[in-house]
Amino acid sequence: MKIEKYFAIDQTTAQQMIKAIKRMTHERSGDNRFQNTKAFLFDEHVVLKMQNINVRNVATQDPDLKHLERLAKTLLELQAQGVNVVPISAVKSKNGNGYIIQPRAKGSELYDRDETSCKSYVLKRVELLSNAPQGHFDKYVADIIKITDAGIIIDFVGKDNFFYHETIGFQFIDLNAHNDYEYGLSDEKTQGKQAALRGCFLPCYFDAVPKYRNTVSLVLDEMSNSERAILTKHNQIIFNKCKAAAINNGITEKMICEMLANEWFIPQKQQLELA
Ligand SMILES: Nc1ncnc2c1ncn2[C@@H]1O[C@H](COP(=O)(O)OP(=O)(O)OP(=O)(O)O)[C@@H](O)[C@H]1O
Ligand SMILES: [Mg+2]
Repeated sequence: MKIEKYFAIDQTTAQQMIKAIKRMTHERSGDNRFQNTKAFLFDEHVVLKMQNINVRNVATQDPDLKHLERLAKTLLELQAQGVNVVPISAVKSKNGNGYIIQPRAKGSELYDRDETSCKSYVLKRVELLSNAPQGHFDKYVADIIKITDAGIIIDFVGKDNFFYHETIGFQFIDLNAHNDYEYGLSDEKTQGKQAALRGCFLPCYFDAVPKYRNTVSLVLDEMSNSERAILTKHNQIIFNKCKAAAINNGITEKMICEMLANEWFIPQKQQLELA
C-alpha cells in the first residue's frame, strides 16, 4: 500500500528532496537493524530513509499510518507550545518502506555515537555542556515531562536522540511512537516526572547501556591524570545542573537518591565520580 502524507511541508519540496537523495550518500545512520534508518541531511531538513515505517515501537502495527499521523499532529502542537521537539513534516511509504521528512535539528548530537570513544571529543563536549545555562537544563527536563504527558515515548538509550545548540538548548529527535499505554499494551500511563527522572542526567558523559556500548573505560584509560580531572570536573558541573533542573521541575531529592541507588542507573557513576 502506498501512503503519502504532508503535515508541515508542501508536496513539491518534499518530492524534490526525496528525488535528490538518490544521488546522495547518507551522513548518519540509525543503530537498529529493524528500521535501518539512513539520514540524508539538507540545510533545513532531513530525509530519513527507513524500513518498517508502518510499525510503531517494534510491536504495534500501523498499516495505514494512523498512529503516525496522530503522532505528527501532537508533535506539531507541542512545537507550537514551544517544546523543543523535532516534528514529522511528511511521510512517504510503500508497504512500510520509505521516507520521513523532518526539520533538521540545530547544533549537534548530545554525544555523537561515532565519536564517543575519542577522548578529545569527549573533553570538548563536556566542557561545552558544562557551560550551558541552567535555563537550558530546566527546559530540557520540562520538555521531557510535556512530551511524555502527551503520550509520546522518548528513547533515552541513544544519546544521539538529543541535540544541543548553544542558543536553542536541547532538542528531541527520534520521536517515532507513543507510549505502550496509548496502544493498549500497558495499563499504566507513563508519567512525565517518571520519564524526567530517568532522562534528566543524560547530558552527563556516561554510557547509558554499557552492554551495548562501553566507551567510558576506553576513554578513561587513554587519559592522563590531568585530563581525567578536567573530565570529572566538567561532568560534575553538568550533573549538578541536571539535578537542579530535576528539582526545579518538581522532582524531589529523595526520588533522585532512590534512582541513583539503582545499579543500572548511570552504571559508571563511581568510575566517573558522579555519586
Ligand atoms: N531531524 C534530524 N536532524 C538532524 N539529524 C538527524 C535528524 N533525524 C536523524 N538525525 C541523525 O540520524 C541519526 C539516526 O536517526 P534516528 O535516531 O531517527 O534513527 P533510529 O533508527 O531511530 O536510530 P536509533 O535506533 O539508533 O535511535 C540520529 O542520531 C542523528 O544523528
Ligand atoms: Mg535514534
